[in-house]
Amino acid sequence: MAAVDEDIRPREGNRKLPPLLNLARRTRYALHQGSRIALYTLHSEAMRRMNRELQKDLPETPKVVPDGPVPGQRRMLADIVQLFADDLKAVEEGLYPMPSDGTMSPRELLETSRAFFRDVPEVARRRAAGAHQEVNETAEGFAEALPRYYRQNFHFQTDGWLTEESARIYDFQVDVLFSGATAAMRRRALVPFAKILRKKDQRRVTYLDLACGTGGLLRPALKAFPRLKGIGLDLSEPYLSVGRDRIRSRRASYVTALAENLPFSDNSLDVVSCVFLFHELPPKIRRAVVAEVARVLKPGGSFLFVDSLQTGDVPDYDGLLSVFPQLFHEPYYTSYLTEDLTGLCAAQGLEERWRTPAFVSRVAEFIKSD
Ligand SMILES: C[S@@+](CC[C@H](N)C(=O)[O-])C[C@H]1O[C@@H](n2cnc3c(N)ncnc32)[C@H](O)[C@@H]1O
Repeated sequence: MAAVDEDIRPREGNRKLPPLLNLARRTRYALHQGSRIALYTLHSEAMRRMNRELQKDLPETPKVVPDGPVPGQRRMLADIVQLFADDLKAVEEGLYPMPSDGTMSPRELLETSRAFFRDVPEVARRRAAGAHQEVNETAEGFAEALPRYYRQNFHFQTDGWLTEESARIYDFQVDVLFSGATAAMRRRALVPFAKILRKKDQRRVTYLDLACGTGGLLRPALKAFPRLKGIGLDLSEPYLSVGRDRIRSRRASYVTALAENLPFSDNSLDVVSCVFLFHELPPKIRRAVVAEVARVLKPGGSFLFVDSLQTGDVPDYDGLLSVFPQLFHEPYYTSYLTEDLTGLCAAQGLEERWRTPAFVSRVAEFIKSD
């Protein structure tokens, strides 16, 4: 099994480099992330063209009107560049190693790209028909026992959260949406995480990634911190199964459970991270999840939060956020946009230490009071 963990060990360690090597590192970073932006932007453009053709044969949908300003392409690109600059700065400061996100073999890339394009007409059909309950209507096996709010075609995606086919293209779909910047947004959570670990023995830190999906944060966290163990929790067995294949570390363990009913004792965890979950939850469940995070964290423990921007975080994006739930079936997103997360967490004893926007995400750290 040792060979498995080798894969996840940082190749160059967390260290500062002499100027010339640092320049080489910057060039490598720029080439890697630049090629990712190009890859996903090309997919996005091809998808737009496909959708234009498909729409000719689909029922017309009401025009979606933004309620506020919408950033232009130049502004969004500038924000992505800023995100990458912050990401590289964290690497140069030795907080985490050079990222290798989304490194797929040519064959894997081709297969995922094909699967992505095969799904585009299905998503277009659902969007035109307002069909977002297919997974509920056909739910059988483990799916029947899942909560009703969960059994939906979120984002109009095929099979919702319920199959491995959906899990295998999920990250690719999200990256097409965010122009290849998704992993860099998630990594914002590793900055406070690295600072927490500087003061601790990694081997003794108890860490949970809540709603870990296919391991979008758990994998880079275990790669960045080579002695850390992490638990990935999600309600989707198929997403966890794909995550297990991708993470391949014996320092990772997995739990299928509800975020609003965590199978951990009171005051038992040092760090809980949670990426892109809260906007997917009904307000009542959101409250229950915050209460559970507060319950399981040790006093002084950290809750690392990454999710969508909210209304007013970056006013230039408000209009874009307002159309998102209609374009991509997101039944609870509108309520999320104005949710007082600071107040919600404070009511459970989780004090917000800081928060910051990162492209289209909000990143924050909450500390459980002693
Ligand atoms: C948008 S995905 C985010 C996944 C991952 N954190 C990432 O960064 O890609 C939302 C995830 O939340 C999970 N999820 C949604 N509701 C949940 C709940 N009540 N309990 C546990 N997991 C849940 C879904 O199965 C899905 O994997």
